Amino acid sequence: MGSHRRAKGLGLRAALIPLPVALICAVPALAQSPKYGIGTSPSAEQLRAADISIGPTGSELPPGRGTVKEGAQLYRSKGCAGCHGATGMEGRAPALKAKAGPETELWRRGRILPLRAPHATIVWDYINRAMPLNREGTLTADEVYSLTAFLLNINGVIPEDQTIDQQSLPKIKMPIGDNYAGLPDWKPKTPRLKGYPY
Ligand code: HEC
Repeated sequence: MGSHRRAKGLGLRAALIPLPVALICAVPALAQSPKYGIGTSPSAEQLRAADISIGPTGSELPPGRGTVKEGAQLYRSKGCAGCHGATGMEGRAPALKAKAGPETELWRRGRILPLRAPHATIVWDYINRAMPLNREGTLTADEVYSLTAFLLNINGVIPEDQTIDQQSLPKIKMPIGDNYAGLPDWKPKTPRLKGYPY
């Protein structure tokens, strides 16, 4: 009983720590002044340009739509094929299509993002932020929707006639289902995973 009460007390104190920590962290930001001559506050426009992360629910997705057919054309015209190969399997860059079909267990079909991602929104987000390599940020939202549709289609995740948009993309069921590394909720004093080096 006693130890139970003590544990509760500690929990309360732990919950109070973040406030002073947050205040300490805020001081350097407030103190950022011409005195040191380092750094500038980002403008609202710079922040908007950097704020492009798309989460699993897709609530941050911009409006737009794309088809598998348009994606197939863009895959060639935007140079994707030059690095990833005409069929997505034979380029110098990572494969975008699995060589083995659905008869092979998912985890044995290779590290293929448009097949193994836990959420289809991740494929959209990756292409939007990182591709085409060296020309990142040049694709329109519609183009990213189309390329995502194309890559999901060549991996058998969606049919050829499916159009994807802001609403339908987050609803696509990826083959991994709910089996993606479900980590337990972390609580204070949770032991490290077995064999974790630190
Ligand atoms: C200049 C070469 C180049 C071009 C052009 C290019 N890519 Fe890539 N792509 C890469 C490389 C290299 C990686 C791996 C990057 C890494 O792992 O850090 C990659 C990674 C990817 C991935 C993630 C693969 C994975 O399994 O992690 C996707 C999806 C992708 N590219 C899609 C595209 C699309 C769509 C286009 C066309 C709009 C495109 N790429 C154009 C070189 C290229």
